[in-house]
Amino acid sequence: MQLSLVQKYNVPGPRYTSYPTVPYWEEDLFHVEDWKASLVRSFKESNATEGISLYIHLPFCESLCTFCGCNKRITKRHEVEHPYILAVLKEWRMYCDLFPRKPIIKEIHLGGGTPTFFSPENLELLINGIFQYAEKATAYEFSFEGHPNNTTRQHLQKLYDLGFRRVSFGVQDYAEKVQQAIHRIQPFHNVAKVSFWAKEIGYTSIGHDLIFGLPFQTLSNVKDTIDKTKSLLPDRLAFYSYAHVPWIKGNGQRGFNDEDLPKDDEKRQLYEEGKKMLATNGYHEIGMDHFALENDTMFTSFKEGKLHRNFMGYTASKTQLMIGLGVSSISDSWYSFAQNEKTIEDYYSRLEANQLPVFRGHLLTPEDLVIRKHILNLMCQFTTSWNDVSMQFPELEAIHSNLEEMEADGLLKFLDHGIIVTEKGKPFVRNICMAFDLRLIRKAPETKLFSMTI
Ligand SMILES: C[S@@+](CC[C@H](N)C(=O)[O-])C[C@H]1O[C@@H](n2cnc3c(N)ncnc32)[C@H](O)[C@@H]1O
Ligand code: SF4
Repeated sequence: MQLSLVQKYNVPGPRYTSYPTVPYWEEDLFHVEDWKASLVRSFKESNATEGISLYIHLPFCESLCTFCGCNKRITKRHEVEHPYILAVLKEWRMYCDLFPRKPIIKEIHLGGGTPTFFSPENLELLINGIFQYAEKATAYEFSFEGHPNNTTRQHLQKLYDLGFRRVSFGVQDYAEKVQQAIHRIQPFHNVAKVSFWAKEIGYTSIGHDLIFGLPFQTLSNVKDTIDKTKSLLPDRLAFYSYAHVPWIKGNGQRGFNDEDLPKDDEKRQLYEEGKKMLATNGYHEIGMDHFALENDTMFTSFKEGKLHRNFMGYTASKTQLMIGLGVSSISDSWYSFAQNEKTIEDYYSRLEANQLPVFRGHLLTPEDLVIRKHILNLMCQFTTSWNDVSMQFPELEAIHSNLEEMEADGLLKFLDHGIIVTEKGKPFVRNICMAFDLRLIRKAPETKLFSMTI
C-alpha cells in the first residue's frame, strides 16, 4: 500500500522558533561573559535604528490545563505576584547597566503562564518599572496573552492605557468533552465577553489561539469551534497543532491516553477542514499555524516580506535584539541565545547573588547564521534563495538531492538558485526546514526531543 504524504512526513521535528534548535545548543562553549559581549555588540548595532524587543514571562496560573506545554507554576496564592515583579525588574536593571545608553523599546510581549493572573496594578508596576530605564520607540507594539477566564475589563483598560494594542486569548476548543479532558472549562460567553471589551476599549488586534489534535476532538468539534470563533471576528488566529511532549519535565500532559488523540490523516483533516473554513471567512494563512484578516499587521507584514519568527512565534516586525526576562525566558542577540533558569527558585537565587539568571546558551557560528536565515525565510515567506554568495554553504549540493524527493512529492518547486513551498507543501514546511538543518542532519537525536511535524 502506498503511504500518504502525512504518513510519510509525520516524523518528530522542531518547530523552529530558533536555529540552532535548543537541543543542539553547544552549552559547553557558552559563557555568560560571551553572552554579555554579544548583547552589547547587538545593542550598539541596532538600538538607535530599530530598537529592541522585550519578552516577559509571567509564569503563574490558577489551574493546570493538562494539554499545556508552557513553563508555568500553578498556584492560587496571589502574594507571589509582587516579589516576582521585583525580581524581573532587578533582572532588567542588570541588563540596562550593561548598555552604553538608554534602550529604545519597540516591542513588549507579556507571555506565560498567565499574565492576567497578575492584578492590573502589579502589571502597571511592571511596565512603569521597565520604562524607568528605557524609552518607547516612535512606533511601538505592545501585546499580551490573556486567559478568557480571568481577564477583567480593568486588565484590558489598564494595559491599553499603558500602550498595549494587541491581545491574544487562549481558546483551544469549545467542545465540553475536550474541555473536560484538558481540564479547562471555558464557556463561549467568557471568550465573547473579553473579546467584546477589548474591541470596545480600542485594541486594534485581537487574537484567539485554537488547537487541533486535542484529546477526543472530532471534525465536528473543530467546525463548531471555528463557527463560534468567526462570529467574534478576531483579527488573528493561531491554529496550533497539539504538541504532545509528555516526556518534558513539569509538563502535566496527563488525564487522557495516547489513544484518545486524533492521529496522522485524521489529525491532518482537522487542520485542512479548519483552514478551508477560515479561508472562506477572509483569513489568510501566514507562515505556519497562523491566520490573519487583511486589516491585521501580521497580514501586511507577511505581504511585505517583513514577518519574523522568534521564541514567541511569529512577529510582525524584526528587531535584532530580543531580551527575555523572567523564569525560563530565552534571549536572542542574533549572534547568541541565552536561556534563564527554569524554576522560580533557581531564578530567584541567581538574582539574589547579583548574577544574570542565565543557565545555558549558544554562540552562533558563521554557518549557523546562514542556515538560520534560510530557515527564517522558509518559515516566514515559504521561499528561500542562495543566489547571493552570503547564502551559500558547502553542503548545498547534498541538500539539493534531499529536496528533490520533496519536489517529486509536490511539496516544493525549484527556482533558479532557490526553492518555493507549494500550497500542498505548506503543512510540511517543518520537514522542508529539516532538510537545511545541518546540525540535525549531522547528529540525529538519540531520544525523543521533538513533537511530530503534523
Ligand atoms: C501561555 S498560553 C496562553 C495564555 C493563557 N495562559 C491561556 O491559557 O489562555 C499560550 C498558548 O499556547 C498554546 N499551547 C500551549 N500548550 C500547547 C501544546 N501542547 N500544543 C499546542 N499549543 C499549545 C495554547 O494555544 C495557549 O493558548
Ligand atoms: S494553557 Fe495557559 S492557563 Fe493553562 S496551564 Fe498553560 S499557561 Fe496556564
